[in-house]
Amino acid sequence: MTVSPSPPFAADTGLPWDVAVDDAVGAIASARHRYGDTFALRSGGDNYLFTFSPTGVESFYALPEERASKGVADYLMLRRKLPEELFDGRRVLPGTLFRRDDVAAYLQNLKLALERTVTELGPAGSVDAFDLTRRLSHRMGLASWAGPGCAVGDKFDRLVTAFDILDGSDAFVHPDTMAEVEASGKRAERAALDEVVEIVGASVDRWKGDTGGPDSLFCRIVTAWTDAPAEEQLRGIAFDIALIHIASMSNLAAAVGWTMVDILEHPAAAQRIVAGDADLARRCALESTRLAQRSIMSRTVLKPVHLDTGDAVYDVPPGWTVATLLPLLNTTAAPDLDSWDPDRWTGHRLADVSALASPALVTAFGHGRHSCPAQPFSLAAMTTAVTHLLSSYEMTPGWSAYPRPVPAQIGGVARAEGRCPISYQAR
Ligand code: HEM
Repeated sequence: MTVSPSPPFAADTGLPWDVAVDDAVGAIASARHRYGDTFALRSGGDNYLFTFSPTGVESFYALPEERASKGVADYLMLRRKLPEELFDGRRVLPGTLFRRDDVAAYLQNLKLALERTVTELGPAGSVDAFDLTRRLSHRMGLASWAGPGCAVGDKFDRLVTAFDILDGSDAFVHPDTMAEVEASGKRAERAALDEVVEIVGASVDRWKGDTGGPDSLFCRIVTAWTDAPAEEQLRGIAFDIALIHIASMSNLAAAVGWTMVDILEHPAAAQRIVAGDADLARRCALESTRLAQRSIMSRTVLKPVHLDTGDAVYDVPPGWTVATLLPLLNTTAAPDLDSWDPDRWTGHRLADVSALASPALVTAFGHGRHSCPAQPFSLAAMTTAVTHLLSSYEMTPGWSAYPRPVPAQIGGVARAEGRCPISYQAR
């Protein structure tokens, strides 16, 4: 079964999971340049229909989940890295993280994590921007859902090590390493998962003897497993926590990292944020996230769909993946979008979309039914984190040129290719 009418076919283009590419986004950009805004390609035995036209992107965001599934596309991507058993039988899923009281609890945990970060950093020194934000988001996340004692001391360090091995985002940040992961039978990932079960298990025992706060997410996860056979309980709880942590934290950590980088490149903005301009900090977070977006947005077709791209209406059969790529839209859909300008945002929206052929062409957190349910929380967390860190320290960037994203990355928020040292001195 194939797409009808036949779109241009980029026979010379493959995706980084299947072929060696120097620059994953550049390879799709080159195909678009040669074949137009809508084209097909085949990679690793899978068929993809990419679209970048204004109508095509709008149609993409309107695809119904039951016919063209984001959930299935995400699963197929993440399972390249994560052991299959992690997805089986989950009872509390990442999509249920945002009940109203939950967000307040996560933000409270972020404040505690920031205080601990400042203690760890001490009065002066040097730190990598992305190491700093990654450790911070591990700490906030584990305090929010991994149970008593998991965000401090030895347990925390062991969990950080385990989650750095079990990092689902490797599937799109380092797609070129997935063949190796497959060949190893995911041995390292399974060992890391066992470590998570052991540590979380100890904290479940402690919670049962103590109390974890009656309505915390951790408490809800433990409660969801009370009727399971004893031998399944601990693994079930630990796997729910692991999937939530893996699915939620790494893009947020990277986005805070780029926000720090961009603000440090703009000292006037840094000064206003330290003086208390939280609205500017939030707009900086949106702007840095927009520019750092490397997301491949994909939908796995389960039942036939029509995709209107403006110049044609394609019938796309089951088995195909419909996709678009944010870095090819976010910075080029109108003049001047390649520069960092937090003033282009008002609220959560672009202030002026008149130069865009469609507002759907630019985004930080997505459009339509699948747009990010964590956007308000993420922006609040990013604003709090950068404000706290910049107010605690005078920071000086140590990079000689603006950091570059990992070239093979195709998905999520960019990770930096090299080190991004910041030297800091307490204010
Ligand atoms: C700065 C950090 C983040 C960015 C830039 C971001 C970005 C996005 C984007 C662009 C989408 C839409 C993807 C698509 O349409 O294919 C999305 C969806 C989603 N995000 Fe986020 N996200 C962030 C943080 C988080 C966090 C912390 C969570 C925590 C659970 C989260 C959970 C989700 C979920 C569950 C969806 C899928 C919603 C659905 O399918 O209906 N995100 N995110």
